[in-house]
Amino acid sequence: MRMQGLRRPQSGVHAGRGGAGHDRQDRDRYQDERMKALVYHEYGSPDVLQLRDVEMPVPRSNELRIRMRAASLNPADLYLMRGSPYMLRFKIGLKRPKNNGVGLDFAGVVDAVGDGVTSLRVGDEVFGQISDFSTGRTRALAEYLCVGAALAVKKPQGIGFAEIASIPLAGSTALFAVRDYGQVTSGQHVLINGAGGGVGVHAVQLAKHFGATVTAVCSEAKRSLMQEIGADHVIDYRKQDFTAGSTRYDTIIDTVSSQSLRRCRQVLVPQGRFVWVGGTGKTHWFGPLRLALNVLAMPLFDRRHRWILASKAPTAEDLATLAGLLEQGAFRPVIDRRYPLADAADAIRHLEKGHACGKIVVEI
Ligand SMILES: NC(=O)c1ccc[n+]([C@@H]2O[C@H](COP(=O)([O-])OP(=O)(O)OC[C@H]3O[C@@H](n4cnc5c(N)ncnc54)[C@H](OP(=O)(O)O)[C@@H]3O)[C@@H](O)[C@H]2O)c1
Repeated sequence: MRMQGLRRPQSGVHAGRGGAGHDRQDRDRYQDERMKALVYHEYGSPDVLQLRDVEMPVPRSNELRIRMRAASLNPADLYLMRGSPYMLRFKIGLKRPKNNGVGLDFAGVVDAVGDGVTSLRVGDEVFGQISDFSTGRTRALAEYLCVGAALAVKKPQGIGFAEIASIPLAGSTALFAVRDYGQVTSGQHVLINGAGGGVGVHAVQLAKHFGATVTAVCSEAKRSLMQEIGADHVIDYRKQDFTAGSTRYDTIIDTVSSQSLRRCRQVLVPQGRFVWVGGTGKTHWFGPLRLALNVLAMPLFDRRHRWILASKAPTAEDLATLAGLLEQGAFRPVIDRRYPLADAADAIRHLEKGHACGKIVVEI
C-alpha cells in the first residue's frame, strides 16, 4: 500500500533537527502516517507472520528512512522468527521478539534523513544489510525502513532493486569466505558444499573470479545453473559423497554441514582450509552454534589443516566492494523467486523448505 498523505521531508527533518526533542517532534508530526509491514509478536512458524498497518518510522539522528523497493530473505530471518536456537533469545527477546519486523537485506530510495547524515541524500538509491539483530526499530519487509546511514550504500546504476537486494548478507558472507577466510587464489581447487543456496551461488562465482577450479556440491536440479555460473565440476550430493572421492581440495567452503569434519579433512590438502559458514544444527538450544563449536575445537585434534568460522558482518565498504565486483561482471545475482509484499509469508515458507535456487526476493 502506498502512503496516503506522506509529508515530504522538510528542511528541519533533513538537516535542522538536533537531539531527542526534535526526534519527538518529528514522531508527533508523523504519528498519523501508517505503512504496511510484515510483523510477528510471538516466536513460531511462518503462521505467526501478519501483514499489518503499523506506525511510520521516523529517522533519528544519523539514520535514513528508505522507501523500500525490494528485500531478500536469509536463513537468519527464520532463526529470528522462530526464536531458535534459544540461545539467540538472550539477545532478541526472551519470551517475545523485541523487534517485530522481518528482513535484513534491503534496497530502496532514501525518503528522509535524520540529523547528521551527510553521506546520502533524499532520492539516492541505496542498498544494505541490517547487521545487528537486536537493534534496528524496523526491518526490511515493510514499505519504509529506518536504518543507520552507515549501513547503506549507493546502488550501482543499471542494477535493479531486486537484484541488488539479493546481494548483501549472502554475497558478503561468500566474499569473506572465499577471499578472506579461504584466501582463494588462482590455481587452487575449491569445493563449495551447498553451492545452490544463497551463499553458495555467490561463492561459486567469486571463487571462479579469483581464479580457482570450482567443484559445486548441490542437488541434480541445479547442475545446469552451476555450470552457467562457472562451476568446473558438479557433484549431486544425493548420488555421490564428496568426502569419498580421490580429489583433494585446497579449500572447502561448507554452508550445509552435511558431512562430519573428520570426513572433510580427508579430502583437504595438507594446510588446506576448511571454512565453515553454516548448517542446520539439531538442538533447539544451540542450533548451528554447536556445529560452530566443533569447528573451533578442531585445531586441538588436527594441526595439519586450517579450521575457520566465517562470521563477520559487512561494513559499507565491503558492500561497496561487492557492488563494484557486480558492476565488473565478476558475479551475477541469482534469484530463485520474487514475491509481492502481500505474499511475503509464503516467501518465508519457501525459504523454510531449504532448497531455494539462489535468493528469494520480496518486491515492495
Ligand atoms: N556465518 C555467516 O556469517 C552466515 C551468513 C549467511 C548464512 N549463514 C548460514 O549458512 C547456511 C546457508 O545459508 P544460505 O543463505 O546459503 O541458505 P539457503 O539459501 O537456504 O541454501 C541452502 C542450500 O543448501 C542446499 N543443501 C541442502 N542440503 C544439502 C546437502 N546435503 N548437500 C549440499 N547442499 C545441500 C540446498 O540446495 P539443494 O536444493 O541443492 O539441496 C539449499 O539451496 C545457513 O545455515 C545460514 O544460516 C551463515
